[in-house]
Amino acid sequence: MIIDKLLIIFCGSWLRMLIGENQLCENIFQHGVNDMEISNLHHTNDKETIVGEFDLLVTKTDAKGRLTYASSAFQKIAELSEEELLGQPHNIIRHPDMPRAIFYHLWTHISKGEEVFAFVKNRTKSGGYYWVLAHVTPITKIESGEIYGYHSSRRRMPSNVRSEVEALYARLREVEARFDHPKKAAIEGHKALLQEIGACNSVEYTKWLFNMIAQKSLAA
Ligand SMILES: Cc1cc2nc3c(=O)[nH]c(=O)nc-3n(C[C@H](O)[C@H](O)[C@H](O)COP(=O)(O)O)c2cc1C
Repeated sequence: MIIDKLLIIFCGSWLRMLIGENQLCENIFQHGVNDMEISNLHHTNDKETIVGEFDLLVTKTDAKGRLTYASSAFQKIAELSEEELLGQPHNIIRHPDMPRAIFYHLWTHISKGEEVFAFVKNRTKSGGYYWVLAHVTPITKIESGEIYGYHSSRRRMPSNVRSEVEALYARLREVEARFDHPKKAAIEGHKALLQEIGACNSVEYTKWLFNMIAQKSLAA
C-alpha cells in the first residue's frame, strides 16, 4: 500500500514535470490508477436505449468518483442494480466511443469546484448505449467548502446535435490514438477539443455546448 502511494506521488510529479501541465489535478491522476485495475470496456453493440423525454438519470459519487447513489431511472437504463453499482468507479458505464478529453475536462473543473455540462455516450450492461446531456457538480461541506463528492443529473441529449457530437468525438479519439500514455492522450485530446470548438476555457466550452443546442433547435 505504502509503495503504491509513493509510486503514485512519484509518477504524479514526474508527469507534471514531463508534460508541464499544471492543471493535472490529483483526482484525474488517482482516477487513472483505478482505471488500470478496472478494465470495463467489454463488448459493445449497436443497440440504442432511448432516454425518455422526462427521464432524469441521477448518480452521486464520493470525491474519487466511486458511486454512492444511483436513481432507479439510472439503474434501469444502465441495466445495473444498486448492488452492482454502489462502490464501483463511475467508469463502470464508460463507453469506448467517449474521448478521454471530455473526462479530462470534467475532472479538471469539478475538482476545482466548478460545474460541467457534457454530451456523454454511456454503455449499458448488455453492451448497448444511450446518449445524454450530463450536468455534474461538486458536493461540498457547508462549513469548510471541502469537496466530498459529486452529483450528476442527465437528461436525454437533443437528437439534432448528435451527428455533430459523434463526428467531433471521433476526431478527438483519432488525436488521442496517437499517444500511448493515457494521460498524455487526454491532455492532447482536450487541447484538440478546445481548438475544434474555438474555445479558450471552460466558460467558452459551455457556451459552445448551449449555442449548439440553441442553433440546432432554431434550425429544426
Ligand atoms: C458525478 C460523476 C458522474 C460521472 N458520470 C459519468 C458517466 O455518466 N459516464 C462516464 O463514462 N463517466 C462518468 N464520469 C466520469 C468517470 O469518473 C470517468 O472519469 C470516465 O468514465 C472515464 O473513465 P476512464 O478514466 O476509465 O477512461 C462521472 C464522474 C463523476 C464524478
